[in-house]
Amino acid sequence: MNDINKRSVDPEPKPDDRQDNTLRPQRLLDLIGQENVKENLSILITAARQRTESLDHVLFYGPPGLGKTTLAHVLANEMDVNIKVTSGPAIERAGDLAAILTNLHAGDILFIDEVHRLGKVVEEVLYPAMEDFALDIIIGKGPSARSIRLKLPHFTVIGATTRMALITAPLRARFGAVYRLEYYNPEAMHLIVKRAAGLLEVEAQDEGIHEIALRARGTPRVALRLLRRVRDYAQVRADGVITRKVAGEALNLLAIDNLGLDDVDRRVLKTIIEKYDGGPVGLSTIGASISEEPDTIMDVVEPYLLQMGFLDRTPQGRVATRQAYEHLDIPYNDGVQPRLI
Ligand SMILES: Nc1ncnc2c1ncn2[C@@H]1O[C@H](COP(=O)(O)OP(=O)(O)O)[C@@H](O)[C@H]1O
Ligand SMILES: [Mg+2]
Repeated sequence: MNDINKRSVDPEPKPDDRQDNTLRPQRLLDLIGQENVKENLSILITAARQRTESLDHVLFYGPPGLGKTTLAHVLANEMDVNIKVTSGPAIERAGDLAAILTNLHAGDILFIDEVHRLGKVVEEVLYPAMEDFALDIIIGKGPSARSIRLKLPHFTVIGATTRMALITAPLRARFGAVYRLEYYNPEAMHLIVKRAAGLLEVEAQDEGIHEIALRARGTPRVALRLLRRVRDYAQVRADGVITRKVAGEALNLLAIDNLGLDDVDRRVLKTIIEKYDGGPVGLSTIGASISEEPDTIMDVVEPYLLQMGFLDRTPQGRVATRQAYEHLDIPYNDGVQPRLI
């Protein structure tokens, strides 16, 4: 088995990333990039404040590491309210949710991470809670059972998900505002690395920052992790300053190439190209070839390859694009055989 969970470019959080909490932007103004989402949120916040109402329910979706959790906390700070953090899999029974809901105060934010993983029964308790701020409780058993309706304070649910397709339609409909987070552009990535280097008090030249930003796959979480690895390298192998050369060497040592692809990405592409003639080939076949779960490939490898235009999803399966061949330096054959006249 290879080390897909130990990748430096894995966008999912790792224990080591906990240090990043100190780097989390606290206010809308500290947030870099995602201009469209920020502008919409600022209107949402101002409008709610002007009416002295609680914030509408908000759903954030997009690949891991782009700032969904950060945004939830920023909203709580901007609204100056408490935030209670939980996640879909953590709320196992309807009673768990009822306990959380009855402890909320007016205006409070309930952040539900991985909201697509809520169980059906729990979700059904959430619907009236979000819509009517009501909790229906069944008292007693059998023929004498009756239901009473408890009023809840006006609170706000902020949901986050990496799998929008798995959100049920009724749940989706209860969110007044839905925002998609995008991969960050190179300028935003540069600013994010620069800001973090400043907060960590690491000396870094602009070219060094650029090198890290370029290879961080448009994902702040990855950028911060790479910055920490480069900082280590600079400290041990150089004089502590992150120059372009130092950053390049450190990242090459991690086998992260100039577009942020690592060993796992390259293995997926090479499998499609070399074993299956560029595809189309099914995800499970690719998974079997490189001993990975198809789901893992779909969640953590594919999104970036699609984003970079190295991979196409077709009904017949995955296809490696011409850009993938070029990036890997493999001659491209577009399938058209030269014809003899
Ligand atoms: N817009 C941003 N500007 C600066 N740093 C960011 C931004 N978005 C995210 N980060 C940083 O990236 C890391 C991952 O963000 P997080 O909110 O945990 O992502 P998600 O919940 O989408 O997986 C956090 O440590 C945060 O500090
Ligand atoms: Mg998160």
